[in-house]
Amino acid sequence: VFGNPVAHSLDIQTAVTEIRQHGSFNADTGVVLGSGLGQFVAELESPERISFQDIPGFPPSTVEGHAGELICGQIAGNSVLVNAGRVHFYEGYSVEQVVYPIRLLNALGARTLIITNAAGSIRKAYPPGDLILLDRLLNLTGRSIFEDRGEPSEPFSRVLIDLALKKGNDLNIQLRTGTYVGLTGPSYETPAEIRLMRHLGADSVGMSTVHEVMAAHELGMDILGISCLTNYAAGILDQPLSHQEVIDTGKRVQGEFSELLRRIVGEV
Ligand code: HPA
Repeated sequence: VFGNPVAHSLDIQTAVTEIRQHGSFNADTGVVLGSGLGQFVAELESPERISFQDIPGFPPSTVEGHAGELICGQIAGNSVLVNAGRVHFYEGYSVEQVVYPIRLLNALGARTLIITNAAGSIRKAYPPGDLILLDRLLNLTGRSIFEDRGEPSEPFSRVLIDLALKKGNDLNIQLRTGTYVGLTGPSYETPAEIRLMRHLGADSVGMSTVHEVMAAHELGMDILGISCLTNYAAGILDQPLSHQEVIDTGKRVQGEFSELLRRIVGEV
């Protein structure tokens, strides 16, 4: 957690130099696409791309279904940087490695971060396929990122939530707002754990996002978080959850999800 800040800003500068040999890679907005939500990339005009594995310092992903590239493109005249894929703490990386891609987006110019994930629903009223705009963050990974001991505040931007609500309304998509709880994984939760999360006030549960949001918040970025609910979390229904359902729901809502993102990015 307490990595050497000088060493790691050198890394980032090396990475930025390398990336800019592959294209302009400069934008005010950065997007992180969660598992199974990669279709948004097809919306980008004149895309420039670089594979994560060609970026100095970038932790290599081990999870199937994570495309693993950085793309810079245009949407409605706005430039946007997109991380298609991410690495997770449960893959064995340090928190500092997990947030490196966020530091990189920021170093490439991003002041706004739109961060997305596939997540389990903790509420029966929020079925798989629903999208939740995150308004609170519950970090239950037992690991932090903040190095200063400043006063904590909620990291998500009310202005961006309102913009997303408006765009959802234009598209006739019912968006909810809610609390994301992040756990380390890698296994799904037990029904008793989910019952606990519900009592804690959480709405969506996943194994990513929390550290990335904390790093972005520390960098002073404006943050919009979106959970795509891919399944009911354990014990919400009287049936076991399946990884196949997580994948199938992702596929089903990708189109709608991409269109919503496109509209939001076009106006940030
Ligand atoms: N739990 C944790 N992470 C997840 C889930 C879940 O139910 N669904 C997708 N990611």
